[in-house]
Amino acid sequence: MKEKLEKMKEQVKQKVEEIKDLQALNDLRVKILGKKGELTEILRGMKDLSPEERPVVGNLVNRVRDELEVLLEQAEKELQQKELERKLNEEKIDITLPSSKIIRGSKHPINRTIEQIQDLFVSMGYDVVDGPELETDEFCFERLNLPKGHPARDMQDSFYITPEYLLRTQTSSVQARTMLANTEKTPIRMICTGKTYRREDDATHSHQFNQVEGLVIDKKERNVSLADLKGTLEVFVKEMLGDNLSLRFRPSYFPFTEPSYEVDVTCFKCGGKGCSLCKQTGWIEILGAGMVHPNVLEMNGYDPKQYGGFAFGTGIDRLAMFKYGITDMRYLYTNDVRFLKQFDRMD
Ligand code: DAH
Repeated sequence: MKEKLEKMKEQVKQKVEEIKDLQALNDLRVKILGKKGELTEILRGMKDLSPEERPVVGNLVNRVRDELEVLLEQAEKELQQKELERKLNEEKIDITLPSSKIIRGSKHPINRTIEQIQDLFVSMGYDVVDGPELETDEFCFERLNLPKGHPARDMQDSFYITPEYLLRTQTSSVQARTMLANTEKTPIRMICTGKTYRREDDATHSHQFNQVEGLVIDKKERNVSLADLKGTLEVFVKEMLGDNLSLRFRPSYFPFTEPSYEVDVTCFKCGGKGCSLCKQTGWIEILGAGMVHPNVLEMNGYDPKQYGGFAFGTGIDRLAMFKYGITDMRYLYTNDVRFLKQFDRMD
């Protein structure tokens, strides 16, 4: 029995030396020490021994088992260490290599432009207000001095949902809403950005676009003047499109302002010399503005003898196009990833 055990020990030792991977080592452990293993088999055979032999052999078997366990454990550790070394060698990481770029979404150029406008006006003490896109004829037109049948309604082809409701054609509707909602009739200094809709079907217009509206109303004695409007718009346009531009105010007509102006800016492509973008005029029309019409003040609860102010409005899409040099309006709406990607990590 003793020889048998010694022989087994030697065999195991030899095999362990040959083994090169953990799986094989584990198989060997099961083969020797497992439930149906060789050593367990020998232990089972002890019942056939005489009572005197039993403790002697039992002792021996236990010792051999302990020895084998130590042996296998050591071998396992060595193999694990080797495996670790192999991995460290093979899976070296070169931390000086450039990392792979994480793909992430980017802010749409229109949203970027809106945020820039809002930040600027908030810094000048304006509130940012909101209004409904599904608007009533009353707020979109009537309260802005555009009664039913007024010829200026033709300037804005509208999507009517019912005879009373339409998709707003201009954010000017929020002027009326803000004045009316202000029951205390305190001064107003607000901008509103948002979507607007018109029945346009030519190549350079979209049926849905974005506008920003501005409204300032204060007591007459505070004398909000055309000079204030000009100064404000100059800050606005220069912030959006660059410092070395000039503005030009042309008399125009809007029903809700009197006097009214269209504001042009020197062409930023040719610097005013004349090119295809400005149709050889050197100027690009960019804004509508004026002093709030007394009828509009009156219709929305502000006494025109006591209050006055200015208003302005412009298209955000066109501003974004000028700002980023976008040549085709459709790029803003078709959401081609190749286009949008250019605005990734822009600031
Ligand atoms: N609502 C006008 C438009 O969509 C733009 C505009 C012109 C807004 C003059 C104003 C303004 O507030 O005073 O064409």
